[in-house]
Amino acid sequence: MNITVLNGPNLNLLGQREPEIYGSTTLDDIQTRMNGYIKDGSVVLEFMQSNKEYELVEVIQSLMGKKNQFIIINPAAFTHTSVAIRDALQATQIPFIEVHLSNIYAREDFRKKSYFSDIAIGTISGLGANGYLLALNHLLTLRDRCITLG
Ligand code: DQA
Repeated sequence: MNITVLNGPNLNLLGQREPEIYGSTTLDDIQTRMNGYIKDGSVVLEFMQSNKEYELVEVIQSLMGKKNQFIIINPAAFTHTSVAIRDALQATQIPFIEVHLSNIYAREDFRKKSYFSDIAIGTISGLGANGYLLALNHLLTLRDRCITLG
C-alpha cells in the first residue's frame, strides 16, 4: 500500500501560522507522527507540500495507473478554489481522504465550500494534526480488511 500525503499552500508554515487556528504542530511533526504509526514495510508513506497548484496536480497525475495508491490531502486554500486538483483526483481515480486542521464549517462562509468533499472517501475537519493520523488509521484498516479477505 502506498499512501501519498499532500499538503497545499501555507501549510509549510504550520506551527508559526495562526497557531490559535492551526495549532503548534509543524508539518515535520505530523510527518514524524505518521511515520511512527507504520509498523511494517507493507505501507510506503510519501509526503509533499507545495504552494503551487500545478505541482500538486503533477504529483497526483504521476500516481495514475499505479496499484494500491491512496492519498491523504489537505488542499488548504485550494480546497475552496481548485477545479484543477479536483479534476486530477477524478481523472486518476485514486481514493483519497480530505483533511483539514480547522473546522472549515465553523469559519468564514467562503471556507464552507470544498471542491473535494463530494468525491472523497471521507473528510476530517477540525481535529487538528490528529486528523492526519485518523485518516492514516482508516486507510490501514482498509488494508487489514483486504488482507483478511485475501
Ligand atoms: C485548512 C483550511 C483552509 O480553509 C485554509 O485555507 C488552510 C488550511 C485547514 O487545514 O484547516 O490553509 O485546509
